[in-house]
Amino acid sequence: MGNAYDQAYAHSLETPETFWADAAREIDWIKPWDRVLDESNKPFYRWFAGAQCNTCYNALDRHVERGRGDQAALIYDSPVTGSSRTYSYKELLHTVSLFAGVLAEQGVVKGDRVIIYMPMVPEAAIAMLACARIGAIHSVVFGGFAANELAVRIDDAKPKTIVSATCGIEVNRVIPYMPLLNGAIDLADHKPASCVILRRPELDAPLQTGRDVDWAEAMASATPVDCVPVAATDPLYILYTSGTTGEPKGVVRDNGGHMVALKWSMKNIYDADPGDVYWAASDVGWVVGHSYIVYAPLLHGCTTVLYEGKPVGTPDAGAFWRVISEHKVKILFTAPTAFRAIKREDPTGALLKDYDLSSFKALFLAGERTDPDTLHWAEDKLGVPVIDHWWQTETGWPIASNCMGLHVFEVRAGSPTKAVPGWDVRILDDGCHEIPRGEIGAISVKLPMPPSSLLTLWNADQRYLDAYLEEYPGYYKTADAGYMDEQGYLYIMARTDDIINVAGHRLSTGGMEEVLAGHPDVAECAVIGVEDQLKGQLPVGFLILNAGVGKDPEVIVSEVVQRVREQIGPVAAFKRAVVVDRLPKTRSGKILRGTMQKIADNQPYKMPATIDDPAILDEINAALQTIGYSDARNKSE
Ligand code: COA
Ligand code: AMP
Repeated sequence: MGNAYDQAYAHSLETPETFWADAAREIDWIKPWDRVLDESNKPFYRWFAGAQCNTCYNALDRHVERGRGDQAALIYDSPVTGSSRTYSYKELLHTVSLFAGVLAEQGVVKGDRVIIYMPMVPEAAIAMLACARIGAIHSVVFGGFAANELAVRIDDAKPKTIVSATCGIEVNRVIPYMPLLNGAIDLADHKPASCVILRRPELDAPLQTGRDVDWAEAMASATPVDCVPVAATDPLYILYTSGTTGEPKGVVRDNGGHMVALKWSMKNIYDADPGDVYWAASDVGWVVGHSYIVYAPLLHGCTTVLYEGKPVGTPDAGAFWRVISEHKVKILFTAPTAFRAIKREDPTGALLKDYDLSSFKALFLAGERTDPDTLHWAEDKLGVPVIDHWWQTETGWPIASNCMGLHVFEVRAGSPTKAVPGWDVRILDDGCHEIPRGEIGAISVKLPMPPSSLLTLWNADQRYLDAYLEEYPGYYKTADAGYMDEQGYLYIMARTDDIINVAGHRLSTGGMEEVLAGHPDVAECAVIGVEDQLKGQLPVGFLILNAGVGKDPEVIVSEVVQRVREQIGPVAAFKRAVVVDRLPKTRSGKILRGTMQKIADNQPYKMPATIDDPAILDEINAALQTIGYSDARNKSE
């Protein structure tokens, strides 16, 4: 029979429809489904076809109706403003219903898009839930993106309204949002009919007459609005993520399948019970924030923590321990980079002794591979299970994890443990054949994927097929390479595309190259991700200048650095570039980014057979040394 995990895993793959129909009993439906899994338009699978539901109802109303009204639903903890506020389920429901009224007054109806460009304030979650309440499709844009990135998303999603704030706060720095918002709207072809602006006391800004609405004023005169029934298969949100070009992919998530999978995950993966305090220290702009700051904890009746601060510097490396002890957090979910930052500032964990962490039961890490050092440090200092789990914006919830509510497997450093029930993970070769255990290949998921995985890309069905389903027919391409061992443990080794992971943030080097190439003096360029002790990876640019450019190369480097900051945003952490005479390429002209990356990371590399002139690699090595990477010992194998 096996353990509970083995049974659930087998059940989920053998009879997915009964498995997910069972899980769906945890959700309140307005109308039941006709089909659990609709396969009539393959490969566009749809879960719970024919059902009607409302995500906001399941996250808020039903808990109030069933006696959870006075329990804390959301704790806003903001060391950067020195404030904290708790919303009970009753209060959150009331506030969300009112804000749904504000949106309705702006003419937002079911199916309309609303962009939410906000810092980590409760109003961001309130706006998301209000959209869900009226069936509007939200698209949250991370606050660390620049005006240009926001403009691209405005043009793609075509929002009727944008919800924003006057400022964000980064440790000791106030970030004015209005110039970014105004700049983005100027740049975009599509113009929203209105913007609802939260005026923060830390920085006010003039509102534009005829376009902008003051959040507080609108709330004061709003009428609460009830839940609107939507189809389970209707989009709940669009979340843009980095693709291989500068054009982001708008991942579309549904209402019904999303609720079912997230609710199931809370007990079975995280071992959380209703009433527990669950904290995802991420940002609502990322998928982790959507799923595990807002939706999953509320669907499960937990208390969620929304934290406006950093792991270090707000005020010190004890910040996470303070939040855990003050709010009695049971489960923390964050990125390994946050723990590397804490470890760097407080290597002995001395600050831990100031706090009572008796409520704390498990730490979950994702966004990048958890390196063994960080894993062991966290295990040692915290004395709780530390669980690396693997997932993507596209999937919306973990593909591989130690499922703490089913069966606790031995933790193996470097592995996010096993495929989660629902995910039929296979390792394929280039010819789409499964390869033996232990061998590295393309990590793929046999279709159909479980509920909550992306429906398609917004307005881009063909791009969805091309990007994910075409290369390995019958499978979803994760674009991660790795292997599965004899016991079914997965090892995620690297991306197979040009996506890099900077402090747990997913970024496209192709997108950065587009920005560098836009500089008038740059003839050609390449961006690679190099290893970084704190952030996992950092982007480094290589520039070939146009012939006859007389400008100091250092000036050009600082100009491209500034360009990336202005066009993509500070979150890209693009701070280093070098000017070179030529780039290593294959004979067909493909830039050898992988080899350059190995040189930068001081790893052995094979001399590519197709390279025109091996001396180019020495030039790259020398250029990297001028900015502190690579080293002279670097030898080709
Ligand atoms: N608005 C405006 N600017 C932002 C921003 C936001 N919402 N978020 C980040 N930035 C800016 C930062 O101020 C920084 O600017 P700088 O170059 O002027 O210093 C830059 O973007 C990079 O930010 P960040 O990646 O946060 O790096 P950091 O050096 O400030 O902090 C860590 C490093 C490790 C502490 C931080 O990355 C962290 O806490 N990471 C947790 C990871 C996480 O939440 N991942 C989400 C997926 S789970
Ligand atoms: P994102 O869409 O931002 O969540 O990024 C997804 C990518 O981050 C994955 O495709 C992986 O490359 C990487 N990733 C996320 N979690 C892990 C993990 N636990 N181990 C290894 N890589 C991870």
